[in-house]
Amino acid sequence: MTKQFLPLSKPALNEDDIAAVSDVLRSGWITTGPKNAELEKQICLLSGAKYAVTLSSATAAMHLTLTALGIGPGDEVITPSLTWVSTINMITLMGATPVFVDVEANTLMTSASLIAPLISSKTKLIIPVHYAGAPVDLDPIYALGKLHNIPIIEDAAHAIGCEYKGRSIGQRGTCLFSLHAIKNITTAEGGVVTTQDAGFAEHIRRLRFHGLAVDAFDREAHGRSPQAEVIEPGYKYNLPDICAVLALGQLQRLDKITQKRTQLARLYQDLLARIPGIKMLSAPDYPHIHCWHLLIIRVDPRIFGMDRDQLIFELKKHGIGAGIHFKAVHLQKYYRENYRFPEHTHLYPLKNTEYNSQQICSLPLFPDMSERDVIYVTTTLAKIFGDTDIEA
Ligand SMILES: Cc1ncc(COP(=O)(O)O)c(C=O)c1O
Repeated sequence: MTKQFLPLSKPALNEDDIAAVSDVLRSGWITTGPKNAELEKQICLLSGAKYAVTLSSATAAMHLTLTALGIGPGDEVITPSLTWVSTINMITLMGATPVFVDVEANTLMTSASLIAPLISSKTKLIIPVHYAGAPVDLDPIYALGKLHNIPIIEDAAHAIGCEYKGRSIGQRGTCLFSLHAIKNITTAEGGVVTTQDAGFAEHIRRLRFHGLAVDAFDREAHGRSPQAEVIEPGYKYNLPDICAVLALGQLQRLDKITQKRTQLARLYQDLLARIPGIKMLSAPDYPHIHCWHLLIIRVDPRIFGMDRDQLIFELKKHGIGAGIHFKAVHLQKYYRENYRFPEHTHLYPLKNTEYNSQQICSLPLFPDMSERDVIYVTTTLAKIFGDTDIEA
């Protein structure tokens, strides 16, 4: 019997989640309503944030956040190039200039010392990224922001269930989470803004639905008062209840989901240490809880004998899905051809970003995987490397 394809990721959904979606479908109210309200409440409880606003994606969350902060032409926004393209696209579409900051070589996260020299009189925002399930070193970044009076928005797309120095991500400042299908908790597509600022939450809530003043669920009025008026032009980024309800059951199981991901990641770490030319990321050296969103290796072609892209092809031939998180944005076609590095950034090359962009490869990691699956992946890697003696 041939082995089933092992995907990079698979949502951790069960029959109760599927039944919950059917219940919403039968309820007569399928768009944004009580399930979103419940999800916002649960996200606040989990993260310790004062306010949460659900959205159709984290990309929408970034768009609305940049809009609410008034980011526009002439402004610079500091963020890594080693991130998902959506952040840079949104900054660019707002007419602002992304300023790319390098990352630490082995955590793939940026730091206050890398950000500091890039700050100019035009810097209006800093967006650090919690990477792969580990938290970025927030204390020095917030201190830097305070020193220069520049807001920080945490890209927490990977960070549901992640903790920094004993505090859940979301408990301080403003964070943008993703609920996309490969994330640890998913609504198929979805995102959440968490914040401690009532006015900011209200603004995001308004912008998510046409800029209308009222956005409370009201069954008789079909979601809002018919008298609601446009306060400012807004967007249509609300999350349907059909989607929101999916996350409610997963949130109850989040500890189990994180535990299983951690168990599989540790097994990967043990087994991969025996394969030459493959290097894991390092864990941050400050106290944290890793929620293991992604399992990332680096492939050194001089030792491993083939480069990352060839390896992804080989893995696929063996029935294993792999991914790249991420290809540096400044190296992608549009930005290669159109982006000009601001003058003051020339002294700070993106050395670690470019090195990792070429070598990183994400391996399958999801809660419904078994330890045998991890052994299959690592044994296959050993075989591809050409060492059949490496027993997993
Ligand atoms: C680091 C990062 N930021 C933002 C996003 C955007 O999330 P979404 O797909 O929900 O728009 C992603 C998505 O993968 C991401 O990985």
